[in-house]
Amino acid sequence: MNKIRVVGFFVLFSGLIGVSTGSLSAVQKEGIVGTGTKIDTLEKEFEGSFPEAAPKHGEIREFELEASESQWGIVPPYQTEVWSYNGKVPGPIFRVNLGDTVRVRFTNKLPQSTTIHWHGVRVPNAMDGVPGVTQPAIESGESFVYEFTPKDAGTFWFHPHVNSAEQVERGLHGVLIVEDPDEPQYSQDLEMVLDDWRLDRNWKIDDRFVTRHDLAHDGRWGQYRTVNGAVKPVFDVKAGERIRIRLINVANGRVFSPQFRGLSPQVIAVDGMLAGKPFPLRRFFLASGNRIDLDVVIPTTSAGNTFEIVDSFSRKTVPIAYLKVASGEPLETPLFDPPRAAHFPEWREAINAPISHEYELDAKRGGPYGITWTMDDEAWPKVKPQELVFGRFNRLRFTNKSSRLHPMHLHGQFFKVIARKGKPVNENFWRDTILVGPKETVDIALIPLDKGLWANHCHILEHAEAGMMSTFSVK
Ligand code: C2O
Ligand code: CU
Repeated sequence: MNKIRVVGFFVLFSGLIGVSTGSLSAVQKEGIVGTGTKIDTLEKEFEGSFPEAAPKHGEIREFELEASESQWGIVPPYQTEVWSYNGKVPGPIFRVNLGDTVRVRFTNKLPQSTTIHWHGVRVPNAMDGVPGVTQPAIESGESFVYEFTPKDAGTFWFHPHVNSAEQVERGLHGVLIVEDPDEPQYSQDLEMVLDDWRLDRNWKIDDRFVTRHDLAHDGRWGQYRTVNGAVKPVFDVKAGERIRIRLINVANGRVFSPQFRGLSPQVIAVDGMLAGKPFPLRRFFLASGNRIDLDVVIPTTSAGNTFEIVDSFSRKTVPIAYLKVASGEPLETPLFDPPRAAHFPEWREAINAPISHEYELDAKRGGPYGITWTMDDEAWPKVKPQELVFGRFNRLRFTNKSSRLHPMHLHGQFFKVIARKGKPVNENFWRDTILVGPKETVDIALIPLDKGLWANHCHILEHAEAGMMSTFSVK
């Protein structure tokens, strides 16, 4: 990313921020440590947002999953050697109902060890797939059974947590969709896995991973953008259809800003969780790890048309996929209110709560890759673990001292962004990954309901590999 893009980023960002209300109040300057009452109010407000325990009324759903070397036509007719789950890129899509227990019998046929992390799923800590933190790495030739009952319905994904800058880049990622049968039925439910690839002149994956260049920038950005493993695929739709589209960014570093030319999608979920209130998709920065679910109506008058889906994050807007509307009679558009979270806290007072920890994000010279990315001046595994109290309101701050992007991801938790650059913002949804811009400060608030030792890292996988990872415990 060059200078001009960085400037562009700021401009775009301020447009996205939304409501910001004036200067700091007296209360904030004092802090409200010790007063107790306001924190209690915030905790009360949270009640009913998402459950502490999984509903257990479903079936056991068993899946086989194998990671191996295979071939995939990213740019047909050329074949590219990839690493994949079940021979496909993206890997399989596991669809289960809320209440079901997911049992995945995983076998590692890769030439190196691996694990699986269920991104965004509030799993029991031992199933989180972080080597040295929640489980030993699964050696080449070995198997492991992952089993958990998702607590939330939504769009999730899974990927290795060992040498992930290489393993995810080579094609290891899959989708987990947890459906809530109580949500309205769309005409179609589509997933679009967004990725990019850096290929050499022979359509081979450029096998220089975690380079100094990638580290000095926003990770590895490839020249081929793909949707579901294909360059500019065409999706067949019908006029009048109302479609749920689940966008998942599995790229190592690239940020997408998806836009649907000629259509007016509503964002109904972010990072898996239904929003408190659906909102129109204008500029939404889908950083590595992020998901959004869209409610898209194909106009009844559009038979025979083709709609373009573009990525407008960079200066140059690029088409990434098409929706091709069949000719012929339109279908009747299903009428229902888009699904929304049963309860979502406003947390207007959150901005006055004390900060439990401020993470400083920065880089320094040296380390195994020549550049080390740090949290609180240390690189993984030396970063001091933080402690969050189970069931209590916590406010954390990410302060980005660098000029690069850092999509920070907390395992096992959902949080709400409450401020950028010290100014209150009101996002009507939870996240598990938040893009922190150059020199930006972002405050998040959460009430952890999942105990254990969890990872907290930059989802630009090169940055994480070069140190930008830490843990926090919830007790
Ligand atoms: Cu998708 Cu630890 O991350
Ligand atoms: Cu980063």
